Amino acid sequence: MSLTIGVDVGGTKILGGVVDEDGKVLEELRVVSPATDVAAIEEAITRLVVELSGRHAVEAVGVGAAGYIDKGRSVVMFAPNLAWRDLDLRRELEERVPLPFVVENDANAAAWGEFRYGAGEEFDDLLLVTVGTGVGGGIVHDGRLFRGGYGVGGEIGHMRVVPDGILCGCGNRGCLESYGSGSALVREARAVATTGSPFARTLLDRAGGDPAAITGPLVTECAEAGDPFCVEQLANLGTWLGDGIASLAAVLDPAVVVIGGGVSAAGDLLLDPIRAAFARQLTGRGHRPLAEVRPAVLGNRAGLIGAADLARHR
Ligand code: BGC
Ligand code: NA
Ligand code: ZN
Repeated sequence: MSLTIGVDVGGTKILGGVVDEDGKVLEELRVVSPATDVAAIEEAITRLVVELSGRHAVEAVGVGAAGYIDKGRSVVMFAPNLAWRDLDLRRELEERVPLPFVVENDANAAAWGEFRYGAGEEFDDLLLVTVGTGVGGGIVHDGRLFRGGYGVGGEIGHMRVVPDGILCGCGNRGCLESYGSGSALVREARAVATTGSPFARTLLDRAGGDPAAITGPLVTECAEAGDPFCVEQLANLGTWLGDGIASLAAVLDPAVVVIGGGVSAAGDLLLDPIRAAFARQLTGRGHRPLAEVRPAVLGNRAGLIGAADLARHR
């Protein structure tokens, strides 16, 4: 039985797991992510891998990271929401741990995980959209992971959807990520709550009266309890995402669209507005198949399971 480790490095947590050939996670570890401290992130990944590989005979490690990774699957060239710039993460990690590493974009890794073992198993063409701190994309085309000419294809969060729009972590204005991410959800909810608008009253009460205490999970919780303001906030997010997915479908024609990332925990409160906007905006609608929009079935493990599989087939 071939075992590999998959690691998913996010802005809030680092998740690592030992994964077998069937995509089964044998053991999982989670640590808080020291998001802005580059050296501390490497340290945390190292400790996690050393611990897991001490207990299991693993042959390689795949690391999914929220950034632009080169085609050699080694260097993090740029990361809109992390401190990494031109960092040879693979080399750094291989110097610390005697195992072969592969570094992949986090959303690509999740797309691969869902394609191999999750919501996309019966399709060859899949688009995965992760909705969390950022908006990430992973494209499987004809059964293969699409990386583009230099490894940085599929950065769907940085398509411009509003000319001169809101400033994004990447430095541009009007990126989809600035309207469709968990960060956008929190920014908008806090902004309305700060005005003292009665619309946001229930949410603000739940946040103890402090707009800064409003989080994505809190908005979701409130929406689940039926609060119209929070339902609407998630619907706004879904509409931006559905519109964006329709534009992407004009180019890619995916057979299935899989929605993952932390905010996808909102389920149909997010997915139904995505589906509605997608169906409304898709070019040729009514005369072509409408791809199904599904939730990621591997949940927050999609990235680590995909990264582990990419390491196995490195
Ligand atoms: C980054 C992507 C990443 C996504 C999700 C975006 O801001 O540009 O590389 O996949 O966030 O983490
Ligand atoms: Na990607
Ligand atoms: Zn951007």
